[in-house]
Amino acid sequence: MPEDAPDGGRLEALPKSLTDAFPVSLLLVETGDPEEDIKWIERAGPRVMVWSPTRHPMARVQFPATINRGPLRISVDTAGRWPTVANWFRQKLDTLLPQGIASTLEAMVSQGDLKSKLTTPHQRRTFWYGLLDGPLVNRAHQMADDEIHGEIQARIDAAAAGRSEGEVYLVGAGPGDPDLLTVKALRVIAQADVVLYDRLVSKEILARVRADAEMIHVGKQRSNHTVPQDQINQRLVELAKEGRTVVRLKGGDPFIFGRGGEEIESLAEAGLKFQVVPGITAASGCSAYAGIPLTHRDYAQSVRFVTGHLKNNTCDLPWNDFVQSNQTLVFYMGLVGLPVIASELIKHGMPADMPVALVSKGTTPEQTVVTGSLESIAGVVERSEVRAPTLIIVGEVVKLRGKLDWLNR
Ligand SMILES: C[S@@+](CC[C@H](N)C(=O)[O-])C[C@H]1O[C@@H](n2cnc3c(N)ncnc32)[C@H](O)[C@@H]1O
Repeated sequence: MPEDAPDGGRLEALPKSLTDAFPVSLLLVETGDPEEDIKWIERAGPRVMVWSPTRHPMARVQFPATINRGPLRISVDTAGRWPTVANWFRQKLDTLLPQGIASTLEAMVSQGDLKSKLTTPHQRRTFWYGLLDGPLVNRAHQMADDEIHGEIQARIDAAAAGRSEGEVYLVGAGPGDPDLLTVKALRVIAQADVVLYDRLVSKEILARVRADAEMIHVGKQRSNHTVPQDQINQRLVELAKEGRTVVRLKGGDPFIFGRGGEEIESLAEAGLKFQVVPGITAASGCSAYAGIPLTHRDYAQSVRFVTGHLKNNTCDLPWNDFVQSNQTLVFYMGLVGLPVIASELIKHGMPADMPVALVSKGTTPEQTVVTGSLESIAGVVERSEVRAPTLIIVGEVVKLRGKLDWLNR
């Protein structure tokens, strides 16, 4: 018999034919009033499964927060308590899963029994770890089925023969704040066998690398390249040929004043696999954390990223192009050359009172910002302790910092 349930819900007595076939039914109880909940829970018979947010020994059914990615199912539950907490963990785990995991595992289902192809547990372990730590899981969702099967087959053959294929990831680590790593960068550095990193990559970011990965510091400091560029390129080739998953971790974005192109050119020439994972460049990170929008409808319709690294103190830069209204200039590596940069801009017609900001160690807890004008900024730097890495922002947009400096509010 139908019975009225609280809050307009209804309890329906199931037809006998159904209860005979499926003798256990499920009761969900959530009236909003724990005492009312308990009354309903206690009316359920011993064969009825009960879920309720109200704790009661008879309410034993739990609904975990779940992630479904093809054949992969992950459930998170907090013993029936705190569904928000379970959901938080589900979201965290979800971001760690590579985008192509479902397609990869679906392709594995149709591979059939792996034991007939890889006969020893060692071969199977090598295969699975190589597959799950390897590049396929990061891009299978963008590949055709036969391509995925081709890569899997190559891995099976390699594991059977005791070989594995390496790959290099050129990864941008962002400007410093570890929370500015991309989800993909985080995933990739957690998979690496070996990481080659620059001086500008913070220790908080290095702490996210897989614990047993080999770490190689390749320096890169102004006039002190601990390992010369051609040796870095060569090392990447050697490591990939050894079949390792290699991460080349660089500050900011690898393709913006990062010589990332040179590093992957050698890999391309050697026919090795590589991927590029972009990062937040210093201009984006520093401007955001300093409250200086690089473009703004009232002040700048374009932005120009410029290297301030002057060769032999000479100024072979197109200064005339830089001196345009409604444009923001961002100089990377410009701290040493700042007096030359400021005087050249004035010489080429930029107003001497054009606002300038220097953002040092941007996005880190040690971030400092000093402001001045083209005319005054070199003196300001002399009087204050501005330390590298420093980014120079020149343009009317710097004025907005007074209003938009959200970090120090
Ligand atoms: C060799 S370039 C590398 C740029 C990097 N690839 C990027 O996209 O940000 C190094 C310069 O970037 C700037 N830079 C990098 N990180 C910075 C930070 N956290 N704060 C301020 N400037 C930074 C400085 O101008 C530094 O001299």
